[in-house]
Amino acid sequence: ASSLPHADGVPEIERRKLMKLLLIGAVGLPTAGMLAPYSAFFASPRSDSFGGGIAAKDEHGNDIITSQWLKTHGPGDRTLTQGLKGDPTYLMVENDRTLATYGINAVCTHLGCIVPWNTVEKKFVCPCHGSQYNNVGEVVRGPAHLSLALVHTDIDDDEKVVFAPWTETDFRTGDAPWWS
Ligand code: FES
Repeated sequence: ASSLPHADGVPEIERRKLMKLLLIGAVGLPTAGMLAPYSAFFASPRSDSFGGGIAAKDEHGNDIITSQWLKTHGPGDRTLTQGLKGDPTYLMVENDRTLATYGINAVCTHLGCIVPWNTVEKKFVCPCHGSQYNNVGEVVRGPAHLSLALVHTDIDDDEKVVFAPWTETDFRTGDAPWWS
């Protein structure tokens, strides 16, 4: 380390901060370059455990309270939250204004870009190579050939949204879950 002095004039403290940020990015986000808009949101995964599940976090890192969420997220809404292992995960609102009992992992099964929800087309459309997934995350156009991963969405005693691993059959395809 002594061979790397402050030749470029960057104060040591700033350098450390930068290295820390880069490190978090490198470890937590293998595809950080493709995740730029989300990196601040997901850079520091931290979660409370609920026996295998974790509390979903909103964009500010706060727990999500179901009744409050449903006041501002209407039928058909799909909004990114922080899920298992810090993965960006869509929290879904059903047409009857209840939370769906499943969430969808937003990481494209092709090469890992974050797949945005297209409210007009009612599909998840990957900006990287054009893979498409229908409104429940089932792949409908390649190059991806696997559907987006599922998680369970539960509500705990405090009305908090909790994500838990999905290990059962994928209800969309009838197949065993490729992700577990
Ligand atoms: Fe999504 Fe390639 S990473 S289509």
